[in-house]
Amino acid sequence: MNNKAIGVFDSGVGGLTVAKALSKVLPNEDLVYFGDTAHLPYGDKSPEAIQQYSLRIAKYLIEEHQVKAILVACNSASAVAYEALKAEYGTLIPIVNVIDPVAQHVGLQTDFKSIGVIGTRATVASKTYTNKIQSANPQIAVKSLATPLLVPIIEEGLGQTAISLAALKHYLKSPELNAVDALILGCTHYPHIQPEIEELKNANVELVNSPEIVANHLKHVLSEQGLLNTQGHNPNYSFLVSDYTEVFETIAQLMFGKHIDLVEQNIWK
Ligand code: DGL
Repeated sequence: MNNKAIGVFDSGVGGLTVAKALSKVLPNEDLVYFGDTAHLPYGDKSPEAIQQYSLRIAKYLIEEHQVKAILVACNSASAVAYEALKAEYGTLIPIVNVIDPVAQHVGLQTDFKSIGVIGTRATVASKTYTNKIQSANPQIAVKSLATPLLVPIIEEGLGQTAISLAALKHYLKSPELNAVDALILGCTHYPHIQPEIEELKNANVELVNSPEIVANHLKHVLSEQGLLNTQGHNPNYSFLVSDYTEVFETIAQLMFGKHIDLVEQNIWK
């Protein structure tokens, strides 16, 4: 089992930001990445639809790739489908989401009084960050804002342009995010536009490094369960999408610095 790959999924290129952190924290691990581009964006879908997509992807990763663990590298799916995934597959393999480790992490920070979260409509409407941060630390106020324009901009390859800058300017001046000590990028797509976020946010607002926190948490879970790949080798990364897009391939190539054979795998047929 230790030599099997870790399955990672998201609606599109967002989860690549977490996969990139995994490649640094767990350099011996093989990864199978599934981007459900056919159903993008998840953030505007109903919880039922997101659950249905997530369960199907998990089944595919387990049955066709025999993954040893699944990382739900999508906040929207982590917010509304994690319990269903755990109930269905949690006894077979570890299932890790991207919200719990971050909520635990910020809950331990005694200098945070108020935290801002930006994310998709599905994530914000679920109140998962608010509930999980406040159960880790009831003293922390959580202020959330849905920022639904950002995912399409990033998926169009328009991150780090005047367009993403303008959209962020609009969102980050919202009164909802006033006077926060830290900001959580509650959508795995958003680290793709981190330079603009850094530029526009108030200098004294700390950006929480969610991809690194999640990658370290997954390392801990694998280690506890004796599932770490201890063989030093050149890891194998497979990138699959449910609908081929050139932008996905370009972004994955830019991030992983090598040629990527993007495979279209329509698991919905
Ligand atoms: N990257 C995902 C998230 O973290 C999904 C974004 C979307 O497809 O709307 O929520």
